[in-house]
Amino acid sequence: MHCVVTGAAGFIGSHLSEALLAGGHTVIGIDVFTDYYPRAQKERNLAGLRGRPGFTFVEGDLREVDLPRLLEGAEWVFHQAAQAGVRASWGDYFSTYTAHNVLATQMLLEAVRKMPVRKLVYASSSSIYGDAERAPTPEETIPQPVSPYGVTKLAAEHLCFAYARNFNVPAVALRYFTVYGERQRPDMAFHRFLRMALSGEPVPVYGDGLQSREFTYVSDVVKANLLAAEHGRPGTPYNIGGGSQVTVAEVLDLMGELLGRPVARQMLPAQPGDVRRTQADITRARTELGYEPTVGLREGLRRELEWLRGT
Ligand code: NAD
Ligand code: UGA
Repeated sequence: MHCVVTGAAGFIGSHLSEALLAGGHTVIGIDVFTDYYPRAQKERNLAGLRGRPGFTFVEGDLREVDLPRLLEGAEWVFHQAAQAGVRASWGDYFSTYTAHNVLATQMLLEAVRKMPVRKLVYASSSSIYGDAERAPTPEETIPQPVSPYGVTKLAAEHLCFAYARNFNVPAVALRYFTVYGERQRPDMAFHRFLRMALSGEPVPVYGDGLQSREFTYVSDVVKANLLAAEHGRPGTPYNIGGGSQVTVAEVLDLMGELLGRPVARQMLPAQPGDVRRTQADITRARTELGYEPTVGLREGLRRELEWLRGT
């Protein structure tokens, strides 16, 4: 298939682009190198992609590039580009979230609407649920985001489904649950914790450390994207979880085991926008897409640690 990957220089987009090339597909990757974290890390993410046959990289903002030209002949579109990060989405910085998450998505959908694409896979987020009433949380749960970030990810998901309903845009949404692994964003917990623990600094723990997450290894998320492109039902959201539900404190204990010494912690106030718990009910993805997570937390963490040691 001929594919377009937005956010191709990012954590998930770069892994996805590599997997598509390995599967014999061609990829146009688009990324504007937002300054949320250093361009140098994103350039390293692209190292295995640039110059590879079948891969074309376009530097630009989705709101500004010539989308009709870039989408010509595209069969699968994977929309990974966004301003990610839950805790930074308050205050003045919110306009960045509306620009990159809502407006950019709407402009992409307007362009896709006029093209005969087979599937558009949108990277949604567990943050749309907020403090969900039920855990594990099924997709039917009424979304009640508690962070401005979650509000924009939900707004973009609704846009995808509005374009699906009104213009038959074949859009599906994958609600990823906290993704980790090699190339993870530097603002995320595992990346920060491992880097600081390696240099002997105490790691910052927000709140009591008993908040829990369903953590998902990046190759499972990549696999979910490929399955969704093949089998996803337009207008449908799918939870994509990794099967491991643990507290931040338990993660730090496990990191200590992997490092061979305990990880020192600095307890800090809980952060606005953080939910207490996430847990995915993946029945729908399992049944309709054939999705099953395969990399467990210990193995995934070991791989992220190895990557960080080499950077
Ligand atoms: P990332 O920041 O590493 O990647 C996003 C990329 O998109 C960046 O390289 C950025 O430069 C690019 N980008 C942003 N706005 C753009 C625009 N307007 N035009 C072109 N490029 C633009 O983030 P990530 O962790 O890889 O997340 C990928 C997607 O998955 C995002 O949509 C995010 O909301 C979603 N998601 C991530 C997680 C997670 O745990 N990492 C969980 C749930 C959902
Ligand atoms: C992650 C991603 O960053 C979001 O982009 C994504 O949309 C979201 O998952 C999702 O699943 O939808 P988050 O769960 O906050 O968000 O991921 P981490 O940054 O890895 O944080 C995990 C937990 O560790 C949170 O409870 C957070 O408060 C805690 N944490 C994080 C710390 O205690 N200290 C830190 O330095 C960083």
